[in-house]
Amino acid sequence: MANIYIGLMSGTSADSIDCATLDLSSDEIKIIDCKNFEIPNSLREDIIKSSQSEKIEKELIDNLNFRMAEALIFAVKETLNKLKIKAKDVMAIGSHGQTIKHEPRLTIPYTLQIGDPQKISDELKITTVGNFRDDDIKAGGEGAPLTPIFHERIFGIDKKQKVVVNIGGITNITALQSSEVIGFDTGPGNCLMDYWCRVHNMGEYDDNGSWASKGTINQSLLAKMMSDEYFTLKYPKSTGPDYFNHEWIKKNLAELSDEISAEDVQATLLQVTVISLIESINLIQPINEDIYLCGGGVHNKFLCSEIDKQTKARVKTTLDLGIDPDYLEAICFGWFAKQRIENKKFNLNKITGSKGEVYLGKIYEPSK
Ligand SMILES: Nc1ncnc2c1ncn2[C@@H]1O[C@H](COP(=O)(O)OP(=O)(O)O)[C@@H](O)[C@H]1O
Ligand SMILES: [Mg+2]
Repeated sequence: MANIYIGLMSGTSADSIDCATLDLSSDEIKIIDCKNFEIPNSLREDIIKSSQSEKIEKELIDNLNFRMAEALIFAVKETLNKLKIKAKDVMAIGSHGQTIKHEPRLTIPYTLQIGDPQKISDELKITTVGNFRDDDIKAGGEGAPLTPIFHERIFGIDKKQKVVVNIGGITNITALQSSEVIGFDTGPGNCLMDYWCRVHNMGEYDDNGSWASKGTINQSLLAKMMSDEYFTLKYPKSTGPDYFNHEWIKKNLAELSDEISAEDVQATLLQVTVISLIESINLIQPINEDIYLCGGGVHNKFLCSEIDKQTKARVKTTLDLGIDPDYLEAICFGWFAKQRIENKKFNLNKITGSKGEVYLGKIYEPSK
């Protein structure tokens, strides 16, 4: 009997739910199925609104926690039906949850992912692992990024130096060196461009970056944005859409006297993503090793061509390493579920800054 695990990922973009079904019977990671599920519109709007507000009422958190869990449960039910897999044959679900807040540098640091894992576990009668970032934060870490551990596991086997770049709402990089793994959030990925599109009725995102490609970079705005403290922080570091959001764009614009067209702002925001990423890579990986992109950003052709233009390294996607760039994170959280069920701990000191070894995730057994 196969050891089936399911990974659920909804990242910071709130664009959709990625679901990966894996057979982890052996050390090999066998991918049975990957599928994307919609987040209902009203839920998505409420998620985006809350992740941008400074304070969220407890009632609203409970409400979102419930509704997101329902959406995740739906994704798993559909998947099990399609694949004709019984719930009792799934060893565990690894559900990352939807990030609403990520505040690792407050006096009392915290991170909040919604999509109640206990409800998922109870309704599906499948052991669910969730809240993957809490213990790392408790151990003094940033709680993010966690994926470098998995990148090392699947892409580090050949021992070749390479950089993996996940361009989701936020961008995070993993530099796989021969001796160690470095990983951190470089700054915004698609989130600022997405916000700007929504505000200007250009859709949920800038398809292929075509809007940005029509604009002209505004150099004073670019300099202003790139002077943000986050970009000067040394790694380990992590961030979220509660920092890089519409307010952040407005604050930067308000400090300039220039009249800047919406199109030029979009062109400039795309450069902020590109430059913060390229500068981070140059900092840790001065040798020009291959760069493997993943996350929704790989579909933004203009963004990818700008990254390619600004580095001497060869820019590819993780498909060249055999993994669909849209599902790498969902696969990762399925694999994390197995690690947690087997009580494996990880040392993320070089990545998140946490001390000692930590568990990634809490186990939620179905209530009797
Ligand atoms: N065709 C496309 N053109 C431009 N951007 C795209 C395209 N497809 C997806 N994206 C971007 O990818 C984002 C989703 O990326 P994803 O990796 O799922 O992020 P997260 O992990 O934060 O959920 C979308 O919000 C959008 O900005
Ligand atoms: Mg997503």
